[in-house]
Amino acid sequence: MVKVNENYANLAQNYLFAEIARRVSAYKAANPDKKVISMGIGDVTRPLCKAVTDAMSAAVAEMADAATFQGYPPAVGYDFLINEIENYYTSRNIPVKAEDIFVSDGAKSDTGNITDIFSNDNSVLIPDPVYPVYMDSNVMLGRSISLIDATEENGYLPLPDDSTKGDIIYICSPNNPTGATYTRDQLKIWVDFALKNGSVILFDAAYEAFVSDPELPRSIYEIPGARGCAIEFCSFSKTAGFTGTRCGYTIVPSELEFGGVKLAKLWTRRQSTKYNGTAYIIQRGAAAVFSPEGYAQTRENINYYRENARLIMDFMDKKGISYTGGQNSPYIWLKCPDGLGSWELFDKLLNSAAVVGTPGAGFGKNGEGRFRLTSFGSREGTVEALGRLDLIF
Ligand code: MLT
Repeated sequence: MVKVNENYANLAQNYLFAEIARRVSAYKAANPDKKVISMGIGDVTRPLCKAVTDAMSAAVAEMADAATFQGYPPAVGYDFLINEIENYYTSRNIPVKAEDIFVSDGAKSDTGNITDIFSNDNSVLIPDPVYPVYMDSNVMLGRSISLIDATEENGYLPLPDDSTKGDIIYICSPNNPTGATYTRDQLKIWVDFALKNGSVILFDAAYEAFVSDPELPRSIYEIPGARGCAIEFCSFSKTAGFTGTRCGYTIVPSELEFGGVKLAKLWTRRQSTKYNGTAYIIQRGAAAVFSPEGYAQTRENINYYRENARLIMDFMDKKGISYTGGQNSPYIWLKCPDGLGSWELFDKLLNSAAVVGTPGAGFGKNGEGRFRLTSFGSREGTVEALGRLDLIF
């Protein structure tokens, strides 16, 4: 008889955002007249910019013509997009080469799928709290996981010490959910630790475009030595509104080699076996993000979300509610008022204000008593939600 993967029994019953969606659907079914405002999942609301949709439309026309039609895309991405990504890094003096870049359908898939190229007997180090995909995808494989505490005391930016162990280390900066962002000096501590211990850092840079402080690093490859110990994941989802069109990229530098095997070779093998490439039309749209118009238009959208974040931060300041994030991140991570638990606050906001946030406990035990709001909503929705919260807090 077939045996199922019993490791799944060790996962929470539902993926965090699926559980939130379930509770929101139940609320909507019971309250059909209420307008629910979502500040929960970090899903964008600004439409794709014109430079992107023009490029996608032109690609649709190419697909309609036998002379320019495209079949299977290359599993690791078209050169026209890879070269734009390489230039994006080179223009910031960050050492990333075209052959290190692997285009995909997003950072979520890649941070989950990268587990395929590492042996199951590696120890995995994951910050708590953090984006649940890192934890869940390793639990599915039955791996030994240790947590490193991210707390108010360490500014949600934990650093290794002599007792820290981890062959595979996940870092997300700017962090989801806390919005905390490592400085160069702090990231250097992690890079030195990984180089010394023969570990690999899996660096999720999905929110790099939201860093407004020029002193803060937006890529781990800004840190000397990182090409020898780190893989970086990036995405067009939050940068350019591709949550619904799916495109991201992963950087696996040629220097990364363990036990005589290059990780880039394994990742190429993995992707060409299990992934058939990101659609031509989507990659054309993604390449347009790097054109002068595309860049200016996507920055406009990011600034729009930044203004939402400012409104949320002003509200928290006014109410005396402490928080991190918002400055260099689309997320505001606040302390639940009145000693409420994070799911209690979730239910309270949903039931008395029809506002949806994300309970901190969904990101790990250190998220208990914390709550995440996103600035990815519309301006009207954000203003209206804050007006409703004003009556509660
Ligand atoms: C989030 O809300 O944490 C993100 O939208 C999840 C994701 O990017 O998959």
